Amino acid sequence: MKKEVRRAVIAGNWKMNKTPSEAAEAVAKTAELTKGMNGCDVVLCVPFVDIAAAVDAARGTDVKIGAENVHFKESGAYTGEVSAKMLTECGVEYVIVGHSERRQYFAETDETVNLRAKAALSAGLKVILCLGEVLEQRQSGITSEVVSMQTKLDLAGISAEEMKNVIIAYEPVWAIGTGLTATPEQAEEVCALIRETLSGMYGKDVAEATTIQYGGSMNDGNAADLLSKVNVDGGLIGGASLVPEKFLKIVEAAQA
Ligand code: 13P
Repeated sequence: MKKEVRRAVIAGNWKMNKTPSEAAEAVAKTAELTKGMNGCDVVLCVPFVDIAAAVDAARGTDVKIGAENVHFKESGAYTGEVSAKMLTECGVEYVIVGHSERRQYFAETDETVNLRAKAALSAGLKVILCLGEVLEQRQSGITSEVVSMQTKLDLAGISAEEMKNVIIAYEPVWAIGTGLTATPEQAEEVCALIRETLSGMYGKDVAEATTIQYGGSMNDGNAADLLSKVNVDGGLIGGASLVPEKFLKIVEAAQA
């Protein structure tokens, strides 16, 4: 199978940016600019409080709305958390789990990331699972071990059938928000390794069909080179997704 059989997905992760009114405006603008560009799926993952406005603004367009996290329980005494069912009822189609900022600042572990992914899949959401090494791990030469271990732990118990709704985002932590992008070769090497790990877990067909994104300072200047790599099927974009005109350039780069 070739790269062409996988669906390219360009997703924005707005993180803790934009109020609901700003979200409505940015979603509408992004939808207008990317209209008809069906060489990839276009997703914007927004803060919880922006979801209603974002879903409203995206209605009738090709832009899909995602959330930035989800809790793994269906309901209960979990102050401040949001369940998968709450998200689907709001019109959310995608959800990010395991972002490094959640792992770093909010003590999420492979175990809870795995539970979140399972809860999201059970509710019918598409999961964007983030993983990647920190700088010290890369410098000590253990990137492969770290990334393949994360892949196995984060996907434990998720079936081959469910993998149709899983996107993996390789996000080297040292490249996030730093302006330090992985080279296309570095991105390709690790995305290929993730695919090989998937092949060991699920077989070649599932591995070849899974969309694997790169994330970490992807922007309008470097997207085309990164996306040209055979195992890089899309991008998860932070800063550059906040400005629709910049995000457009990345969506355009994914049309080739
Ligand atoms: P930046 O594109 O701002 O580096 O963020 C990447 C990211 O964390 C996407 O999830």
